[in-house]
Amino acid sequence: MAALELLVRNTSEVLTVEGTHREKAEVALTPRPHACVGLRAGRVAYVGPEAELPEGAVDDGTEVIDARGGFVGPGFVDPHTHLVFAGERSAEFDLRNQGATYLEIAKAGGGIVSTVRATRAASEDELVKLALPRLQRLMAHGVTVAEVKSGYGLDVENELKMLRVVRRLAGLTPVELVPTLLCAHAVPEEYRGRREDYVRLCIEEILPAVAAEGLARFCDVFVEDSAFTVDEGRRILTAARALGMVPRLHADQLTACGASELAAELRAATADHLEQVTDSGLRALAEANVTAVLVPTSTLFLRMRPYAPGRRLRDAGINVALGSNVNPGSAMSENVALVLGLACLENGLSAAEAYWAATRGAAQSLELQSHGRLAVGDPGDLVVFNCASYRHLPYHLGVGHARVVVKTGRVV
Ligand code: NIG
Repeated sequence: MAALELLVRNTSEVLTVEGTHREKAEVALTPRPHACVGLRAGRVAYVGPEAELPEGAVDDGTEVIDARGGFVGPGFVDPHTHLVFAGERSAEFDLRNQGATYLEIAKAGGGIVSTVRATRAASEDELVKLALPRLQRLMAHGVTVAEVKSGYGLDVENELKMLRVVRRLAGLTPVELVPTLLCAHAVPEEYRGRREDYVRLCIEEILPAVAAEGLARFCDVFVEDSAFTVDEGRRILTAARALGMVPRLHADQLTACGASELAAELRAATADHLEQVTDSGLRALAEANVTAVLVPTSTLFLRMRPYAPGRRLRDAGINVALGSNVNPGSAMSENVALVLGLACLENGLSAAEAYWAATRGAAQSLELQSHGRLAVGDPGDLVVFNCASYRHLPYHLGVGHARVVVKTGRVV
């Protein structure tokens, strides 16, 4: 065997996460007790007992990491972030804690459109500078792939600006970024009373401009009474699909509005949030094989109830993924450990289901075939944790246990 470039040894276990969401999660995580992991050319080249490493696998050039009895798993995949933005909304946080709701604040001119004002006023360079530390904080938690949405530009120039920022960020951080166009995040202030004109701007100008530059892999719509209707969502996402972008939806977050049914009808990759999903919405998602992306930090942060029914979604055979949803309005936190904790405490997932949802489940939601997994040949994205079991992550609530993060075979 050609020498490995990196070897992680002395683990409690290595989770290769080779199963499917239809199996019991403890089994799907595929634990390999006391295994070591070897990487070469940015990919997994060996997983197994150290004693069975082939001859020549380790030489003077092999970097060896001692896991000190910690467990090793694939890098986390964050399938829902809004991490490019300017400004902040701590005053809204304070207002909510004194009883105001997210919708009341939005109606009074705060909310998404206030971040739109700040983001439009910022240059590309400024947005890059602001987003980098957020990405670093995600990475410190073990995130090696993150989806990033636009959605605070809401016109041709500024949506393009946001997605160009994502492209620049991708060259500046080891975290692999998956861009999503979210021009239908809110109707911008200058289109108040003229929503149909804005929907047409999305379809006729923003989508084609983004597609022409190849700036987005996915297209998302916030389908909600206070944002875009089911019919508007259908039109925008159908146009996006025709331009090669795969639909995802902010669905049934604040009200049950038929968004899950639309996600199913469009065979979207994901329906995200789902706090208010109905039984019929849930059935539709299951039948259409749409991944449910849960973002429980927002439910906490907005002081809303109920949390999305993670238990029922899993029991219906749906692939459940977990995201940080980092954004200035509904989840100002890059704390992936907290997401795992809330998923167990409030969405009703087991620790194994939560770990699956933050790795392989999330990778599948982004249509990444071999991320979020550590089989031989998969990308060399892994995390060495300073605890012996994945069960410790949600249990030791909110504490990041990632000790070493490796992206494409390199320690970052
Ligand atoms: O996913 N719900 C819509 N979008 C974000 C919140 C964005 C904001 O408030 O700035 C979310 O929670």
